Amino acid sequence: MKLDHLFSTFRIKGMELKNRSVMPAMGTGYASSDGTVTDRLLAYLARRAAGGTAMIITEVCAVDTRGKGFPNELGAWGDHLVPSLARIPDALHPYGAKAVLQLHHAGRETFPVAAGGTPEAPSAIPSVILGQPCEEMSIPRITEVVEAFGKAAGRAKKAGFDAVEIHGAHGYLLTQFLSPFSNQRSDAYGGSEENRSRFVLHVVEAVRGAVGKDYPVIIRISADELIRGGYDLEFMKRFSPRLVAAGVDMIHVSLGVYSTPGNLTIASMDTDPGFNLFRARAIKEATGVPVIGVGRVRPELAEQAIAGGDADLIAFGRQHLCDPDFMNKLQQGNEKDIRWCTACNQGCIERLSFEMKSATCTFNPSCGREFKEGQGAGGAVYGLGALQAGQGHTAGAPGNGRRVWIIGAGPAGLSAALAASGKGCAVEVFERDGAPGGQVRPASRPPHKEAFMDWVNWAVNQLEKQKVSIRLREEMTGSMLSADRPDAVILASGALPAVAGIPGIDSAHVCDARDVLMGRVGLKDPAVILGAGYVGMEAADFLIEKGIRVVVLEMQSVPPVGKFTAHGYWLHKRIRDGGGRLVYGAEVTNIGPEAVSFVQKDQEWREPAAMVVTAMGARSENGLETVLEKLGIPCRTVGDAGSPRRLLEAIHEGHKAGREI
Ligand SMILES: Cc1cc2nc3c(=O)[nH]c(=O)nc-3n(C[C@H](O)[C@H](O)[C@H](O)COP(=O)(O)OP(=O)(O)OC[C@H]3O[C@@H](n4cnc5c(N)ncnc54)[C@H](O)[C@@H]3O)c2cc1C
Ligand SMILES: Cc1cc2nc3c(=O)[nH]c(=O)nc-3n(C[C@H](O)[C@H](O)[C@H](O)COP(=O)(O)O)c2cc1C
Ligand code: SF4
Repeated sequence: MKLDHLFSTFRIKGMELKNRSVMPAMGTGYASSDGTVTDRLLAYLARRAAGGTAMIITEVCAVDTRGKGFPNELGAWGDHLVPSLARIPDALHPYGAKAVLQLHHAGRETFPVAAGGTPEAPSAIPSVILGQPCEEMSIPRITEVVEAFGKAAGRAKKAGFDAVEIHGAHGYLLTQFLSPFSNQRSDAYGGSEENRSRFVLHVVEAVRGAVGKDYPVIIRISADELIRGGYDLEFMKRFSPRLVAAGVDMIHVSLGVYSTPGNLTIASMDTDPGFNLFRARAIKEATGVPVIGVGRVRPELAEQAIAGGDADLIAFGRQHLCDPDFMNKLQQGNEKDIRWCTACNQGCIERLSFEMKSATCTFNPSCGREFKEGQGAGGAVYGLGALQAGQGHTAGAPGNGRRVWIIGAGPAGLSAALAASGKGCAVEVFERDGAPGGQVRPASRPPHKEAFMDWVNWAVNQLEKQKVSIRLREEMTGSMLSADRPDAVILASGALPAVAGIPGIDSAHVCDARDVLMGRVGLKDPAVILGAGYVGMEAADFLIEKGIRVVVLEMQSVPPVGKFTAHGYWLHKRIRDGGGRLVYGAEVTNIGPEAVSFVQKDQEWREPAAMVVTAMGARSENGLETVLEKLGIPCRTVGDAGSPRRLLEAIHEGHKAGREI
């Protein structure tokens, strides 16, 4: 891949960047509740700097305690935080990466537990998504918050940051003032476009005033709110030159707010790569200043965008979580070694926002564990050779050639094999199928999910490099174990489809979703799918794309797949737009040759079906556990073999077991 533009230098005021790659702000939940930097956060950031990116923008950093978006948000609200903040540039600079602090106030997009009371906003209009009541800011309070941005910027400069980024995007306080939807004030800060712009311009002026004329000031904007009643790109094209006049040097062109349908701010696999770059170009043309493009940008697209003048720098967000070394690998021509982000959102943003846990990555179990795995700041970062060999799977205690057998080459088994072999165990992987991947193979068949197989291919490629053999078409049995006793076993035998005791379930026209997705059965029209979890919904999506009429029957009365996740939103939309029907609270009573009978609200119904597809969950396959116990062979059971869950649990548990075995 020719990437001359991506690897060219760039200068903004006194800040010289070694290439055009930016790691944009990504909230992690790794900071302390008092706003200070932790060793965990530092190790995670330093690990990304070591990977070759030119500029790292910290996650949101609150300028005022009432503007915190989550309880352990990084803070710049007091002078006492300067020494703590200074640890970030100190950790990044040795790797040649520039450090930028993102200045943030969440406004109404937060909870009292984070804000320390009722959240504040331009108007007392609760967040559409969080539903949290909020208070209208008084004019003296507006002045205070403007000053807080200025003071926080001054602290960033004092702490040694190379630049600041004002967070003016994603529906937080600055966007809330700009938006005719969330700002319904009738004073000097609301109403007309001029009035709605005032707060943001004052913030920019305060920041510029605090840092002086030679210091780079970036603003992140949402170029379009993409909500009914919000502002649009045309507004931003008119407004953005005023940001420049107020003191901004560069504009980071993001998009969307919390309630934008399908979460286009952190777009899932359902959205095309580079879908937002045209907005970066529009803002660049409107202002004449450099812009940062963002939104599912891949390196080849980045190259085109920079060469074609769409953007000057490119922010690669989640790719930095999934593989911190991707820039170094690109530069060295080791593209095949890159672990690509799938835009699944499960391990990062959904874990952070819906599960209230710290962010990580489904496919990179070391993300957020760098401080524990010895990949941190303070001289402990591995040399490049070790990073390439271990891919973050480098281990704790040495394996000393112990014979470790791994049963199953699904995600849990592959991840365990990487970790165990990385620490020097003699690893063999046994897989009864003809190909590795386990359930990822059917999981990668529905529309937009093909990238899931990239991880399997990557893992197999890494194992080949480590000379680990995957013995395909070899089903592990008790007699094999007792005949050739390994020193330890990791049981990663996964799960099989669950079967319900419905009359007619054994009929010839009934098959499981995995068989449909793998092309093991012929398709017939119309189809009834039993179960509206992710597997059922994705099977519906798959069948609709193939022109089959689909009805999905679900026993629960509420949709198991909500529309609040990006992928969930797009699944519901595609099924609805494709004429599919979802029936909830439906208890299936019989599967006949031509129809499925079910009861809903005490009423009986029949749904015509030439094909019935089951998607009713999974059951663990772990019968070898008792055999291993009897033989006295140490064993760790991981992934779906423990209990059927998701890729994240499978990959992370496999990684942990491989390191610890
Ligand atoms: C259609 C579909 C879509 C999905 N989509 C997602 C998604 O979007 N996100 C997500 O997080 N999860 C998803 N999942 C779930 C996810 O794929 C599983 O949680 C994950 O694959 C579990 O990994 P595992 O390695 O534990 O087990 P598996 O993937 O089941 O792998 C186990 C492997 O062990 C092998 N094996 C079993 N017994 C033996 C033996 N005795 N000897 C040798 N080999 C043996 C099996 O052949 C298999 O290859 C999906 C699942 C399906 C079916
Ligand atoms: C876990 C997570 C946390 C994020 N937190 C922030 C944040 O603190 N500030 C911000 O401006 N954007 C945040 N974002 C958005 C990213 O900066 C980026 O714009 C988005 O992920 C799209 O880029 P990508 O497609 O390259 O990942 C976050 C994204 C993720 C995945
Ligand atoms: S969890 Fe999914 S979306 Fe998030 S960084 Fe990892 S692969 Fe990308």
